[in-house]
Amino acid sequence: MAEVKPTHKAVRQYYETLARLADQRADNEGASRAALQRLLEDTAPAGWSWTMELPFGVGGKHIYPDATLLDNYYQPRGFWEAKDTKDDLDAEIEKKKDRGYPLVNTIFEDTRVAVLYQEKIEIGRYELATPAKLCALLNDFYRFTQPPIADFQKAVAEFKVRVADLALGLKKKIDEAHAGNAPFQAAFDKFFALCQNSLNPNIARAAVDEMLIQHLLTERLLRKVFGAGDFMRRNVVAAEVEKVIAALVSKSFDRHEYLKSLDRFYVAIERAAETIDDFSTKQKFLNTVYEQFFQGYAVKVADTHGIVYTPGPIVDFMCNSVAAVLKDEFGVTLGDPSVHIIDPAAGTGSFVAKLLHLIPRRELPRVYKDQLFANEVMLLPYYVAALNVEHTYWELTGQYEPFEGLCFVDTLGLADEDQSKFHFMTEANAQRVHRQQLAPITVVIGNPPYNVGQLNENDNNKNRRYPEIEKKIRETYAKDSTATNKNALSDAYVKFFKWATWRLGDRDGVVCFISNNNFVDEIAFDGMRKNLLLDFDRVYHIDLHGNVRKNPKISGTSHNVMGIQVGVGITVAVRKRTYKTATLFYHRVPEFWYKEEKWGWLNEKKDVASVEWKELKPDARQSWLVPAHADKFEGFIPLGTKESKKAEKPEAIFALFSNGVKTNRDDVVYDFDRHKLIDRVKRFIEDYNAEVDRWRRSDKKTPIDDFVSYENVKWSESLKANLERGRYGEFDEAKIRFSLYRPFVKTLLYFDPMLNERRYQTELLFPLTEKEIENRVICVKSPGSTQPFHASLVGIIPDLHLNGDTQCFPFYVYDEDGANRRENITDWALAAFREKYADKKITKWDIFHYCYGLLHHPGYRATFGPNLKRDLPRLPFAPEFWPFARAGKELAALHVDYETVEPLELEWREAPGGKPLSYRVEKMKWLDDAKTQLRVNETLTLAGIPKVAHEYKLGNRSALDWLVDQYQVKKDKVTGEITSDPNRADEPEYVVNLVGRVARVSVETVRVVNALPKKAW
Ligand SMILES: C[S@@+](CC[C@H](N)C(=O)[O-])C[C@H]1O[C@@H](n2cnc3c(N)ncnc32)[C@H](O)[C@@H]1O
Repeated sequence: MAEVKPTHKAVRQYYETLARLADQRADNEGASRAALQRLLEDTAPAGWSWTMELPFGVGGKHIYPDATLLDNYYQPRGFWEAKDTKDDLDAEIEKKKDRGYPLVNTIFEDTRVAVLYQEKIEIGRYELATPAKLCALLNDFYRFTQPPIADFQKAVAEFKVRVADLALGLKKKIDEAHAGNAPFQAAFDKFFALCQNSLNPNIARAAVDEMLIQHLLTERLLRKVFGAGDFMRRNVVAAEVEKVIAALVSKSFDRHEYLKSLDRFYVAIERAAETIDDFSTKQKFLNTVYEQFFQGYAVKVADTHGIVYTPGPIVDFMCNSVAAVLKDEFGVTLGDPSVHIIDPAAGTGSFVAKLLHLIPRRELPRVYKDQLFANEVMLLPYYVAALNVEHTYWELTGQYEPFEGLCFVDTLGLADEDQSKFHFMTEANAQRVHRQQLAPITVVIGNPPYNVGQLNENDNNKNRRYPEIEKKIRETYAKDSTATNKNALSDAYVKFFKWATWRLGDRDGVVCFISNNNFVDEIAFDGMRKNLLLDFDRVYHIDLHGNVRKNPKISGTSHNVMGIQVGVGITVAVRKRTYKTATLFYHRVPEFWYKEEKWGWLNEKKDVASVEWKELKPDARQSWLVPAHADKFEGFIPLGTKESKKAEKPEAIFALFSNGVKTNRDDVVYDFDRHKLIDRVKRFIEDYNAEVDRWRRSDKKTPIDDFVSYENVKWSESLKANLERGRYGEFDEAKIRFSLYRPFVKTLLYFDPMLNERRYQTELLFPLTEKEIENRVICVKSPGSTQPFHASLVGIIPDLHLNGDTQCFPFYVYDEDGANRRENITDWALAAFREKYADKKITKWDIFHYCYGLLHHPGYRATFGPNLKRDLPRLPFAPEFWPFARAGKELAALHVDYETVEPLELEWREAPGGKPLSYRVEKMKWLDDAKTQLRVNETLTLAGIPKVAHEYKLGNRSALDWLVDQYQVKKDKVTGEITSDPNRADEPEYVVNLVGRVARVSVETVRVVNALPKKAW
């Protein structure tokens, strides 16, 4: 790197500019700053550049240094922060330090003096007026390279943080090559066609770019850690990727120089690996790199593909279990010529590596060559799996043999009939796939990915479609389901179960998976449960729990065996057709065990044969875990059922019921402030309409997911459908309505069929603003959602997530134009209640209130909690009618009119020191565990909140906790802009008063509920 000298043209120009400014007697700070900026630009090393205000991540937040120096791989090399001459430079530096400002190689200056920090230490102060000092600053700054990290743990941790940046830098290099590097373009196009043909016909070019990035970033690690110098040349897929990379590096990209810039992390990681002799430790180490790489680099990919390695105790238990089942049920070992095994989601190859250890040595070469298979669709894990398995085999046999059973392929696509057009990447890989397809598989083992697909249309991250597997699911798991919402069946793990069943064909065999285990008890899976017991003859399931939504007292990191948020379980499904009937066995480990305790238990048990099983007898509805009081609950009268909804004379309490409003773009259509809402919705409609224009002008051939711009419009499925039909949006202020967004959180909603994804039938409940005055709606948590049962009463439009997934039972319903009001409590119910209680005075309103009262009965909720998880409420005829009706009426008034109840008298603690009292809420905070003191802001704390108030819970939160959670100022994580502000200019004390009011509502609710008759049925 050339030294900057006082004779440098840019330095001379800089001082000439300063002298000119001095002559003009212009104390022009802006001009001298511009001169300095020019100097920095002109002296930067060749190929490096300055970028202004580039975000820099610090622990999830972003900091925006004034300028960042990027090298030719777009990696940050230094930062420049400009301060005003009048600022106290040292004080400013201290402030920046507190905010986590990067002090790696950073200049702070005030146009007179510059202070240089390197690796958090001040290394010098430079008078900018002196040319020699100025040049020293520039040379010290440009020459600095971050020293390699010595500590392995630190290196891995920093690698994870930096990997996103590194990848971004590489992406830019690749983009440049796409634009102007002909050999690369040719190599890429060829490789892209291969990927389309072999992995996914709809694969995006960006996904193939990502493969190159994965390869470049990790190839050196794999090579050095495993000492497998020629792996990249030898492996059938890596060799192909290398060809593209070779074209990429032909111009402007020096691979060695690039890899050298990664020394910082890699040296420590590689040194640590050198000291590990034991291969299994290296394997663990690679597992960590695999996981950390994806979490740091491509979180979306990690989500859609379930990138997380399977912990050792689980792998061991499952492999041992398969061995035990083969022996006990079929009298064979893992090495028997009849046994053909596949892991369809190989990840790092942990299952195959373990199985190799369990196969009798003399049979190992044959099994390894002909009877063992694994598939992986992501490049990095595919490499790691190859290295892991091949190395393990070498350890066990002393021979190096490529693992010919490993395929780089999408497992689920293998079920599609039209295989002939696929080439499977390279000839060698294709041959591997074809051999696998012909193998008579008898064991499927693994840890398939689980995700229901993208949650948000703007992610444009949809899972690939698998026509054949999806058809098979439709014809079995979905066809045999009675659930209304079967979305959960699109989870990837469900497809893998179906695939495994298909892959066994009509052979006897075993499927052993660890997966999300919501199929055991959630309603959408009744058809899947039924089919598992048709497809297999012995089904064992170990429930390892870990669903943090069902049990908020546990954490994914400490209690879940996979460290994730969804509940998991191990299934061993055995098909042995000599059994005439299927049997189901179940074991649950204690729910509150830490993951280490669960692993310990799996180690101790070793395999399925030593587990204490409970035999389950599924009921006619295909429930495996039949709730204790199913028959009793079944005998109660329903609020409403799917059948009653369609019936002409419904035998249920309510005729019509509907879900709450599902907007799919809450942050666009909800706001506390009318003007902000109007502005935002208008802007949204304009942006959307511009897309409609663009679509109408286009040839309409591009798939809509690829056509739309994701910049300004928050898309949803139905909005994309509207776009395809060329429908414009139109703003109408009359559509702004009140809505209850969460318990006791009233806000404004733009209530519109185009901008709300699904309004269900809510427009029949609240067609016009006037109807808010008279109508009342009981909202309950729908079956299926994981929260404890709870109910609310509203007089305005409810959001879908008011009560978990909300079902709304209105007193009145109307036509869409507000005409034709009718009572929604059925005549059948009126007659039934009047007859039961021999009381002609009972009205439909009384029945409505009776329902609301009874739904709060603690004994009812406790006893029938499991039933309410799978069904909408059914209510008993309580021994006495009126106590429930009266209590319900009282609760209804409290809950609907919560904004006008007298606030509970609380103790106002104002901050000492004469600061003016403020009502403004940024984020309220409980000051004590019992939650009796609430800090509103720095000037005000509300104390003396009765503990009992927190007994009034809606789901997992008390009413007051809902306020604290929802009434806060929300900001955009990237820009820092306020996105939602609950403070009211017209009524500043609204939130503070609301705390008092909701405290009163809570205390009164608890009183009314506790006074309900003990006996409710
Ligand atoms: C949970 S991980 C498996 C972890 C593995 N047992 C281990 O210990 O490393 C799931 C793996 O399946 C792969 N995968 C996801 N979908 C796939 C598909 N359709 N075909 C093949 N592999 C797939 C993912 O890339 C991921 O590596």
